[in-house]
Amino acid sequence: MDTPATSHIDKIRQQFTRQAEAYEAVPIVTDPAFLNYIVSISGVGTNDRVLDVASGPGFVAMAFAPHCREVVGIDATDRFIERARAEAERRKLANVAFQSGLAESLPLPDGAFDLAVCRFAFHHFLNPSAVLSEMRRVVRSGGRLVVVDMVASEDPAKAAYHNEIERLCDPSHARALPASEFERMFAAERLEITYRQTVHSAYGLKEWLAHGAPPPDRTARIYEMLEASLLEDKCGLSVRRENGEIHFSHVGASYVLRKSA
Ligand SMILES: C[S@@+](CC[C@H](N)C(=O)[O-])C[C@H]1O[C@@H](n2cnc3c(N)ncnc32)[C@H](O)[C@@H]1O
Repeated sequence: MDTPATSHIDKIRQQFTRQAEAYEAVPIVTDPAFLNYIVSISGVGTNDRVLDVASGPGFVAMAFAPHCREVVGIDATDRFIERARAEAERRKLANVAFQSGLAESLPLPDGAFDLAVCRFAFHHFLNPSAVLSEMRRVVRSGGRLVVVDMVASEDPAKAAYHNEIERLCDPSHARALPASEFERMFAAERLEITYRQTVHSAYGLKEWLAHGAPPPDRTARIYEMLEASLLEDKCGLSVRRENGEIHFSHVGASYVLRKSA
């Protein structure tokens, strides 16, 4: 039987199979400074085993490879698994492996990793607490988790408006969480926040639409919604017009968490 969760995974697979190259072309996805930043805040050690959850094209996993013993990337979209494997081979990275799997039920034993990382994927999960719990399970006591994702406004109406825009662009978007919800989830899993940082990433609307490639009716609705947010902030995205084009900024949060013994 088709459950809501299985149909959501179908949407994820359809969207990222169709848009794999477009996603890889978004500058922040491959930005070496951002990838190095994630590695640097993680405190990764040369003997560590690292897990990249929802690894997509694998750039995060590959950024960790020179700094640790072994990296495993897990993702639901087979097209990305194939592309990540091919790229790791092209880069001659012998300590990276990619495998198919769901973040909500990681096919991995308890405590097998020193570090679990997840970038730009929590907003795709229908059950983010279940994913966090799985990340915690597969990390050893004293190990770390790194979570990097866009966050929504703390104002529920603005967060809902923002999430509607995201879903119009990419139907596999589930929900961007406000930072306070991330932090409540971490506390519920007894994960101590050892590092927290927020950054703003600016996008031109045309450039941003390319990653989702929505059909014309949904594109028109996105324009309408963002234009309506120019005078009065409706979505917490700092919407503005620059040189005649709509621009906005995502707020991204990076967390390092410690699993206590
Ligand atoms: C926006 S991409 C992020 C990819 C990568 N982490 C990065 O930073 O470039 C989101 C990824 O999450 C994966 N994904 C979404 N839901 C998933 C789930 N429940 N289990 C495993 N992978 C999932 C998608 O297949 C996609 O590769």
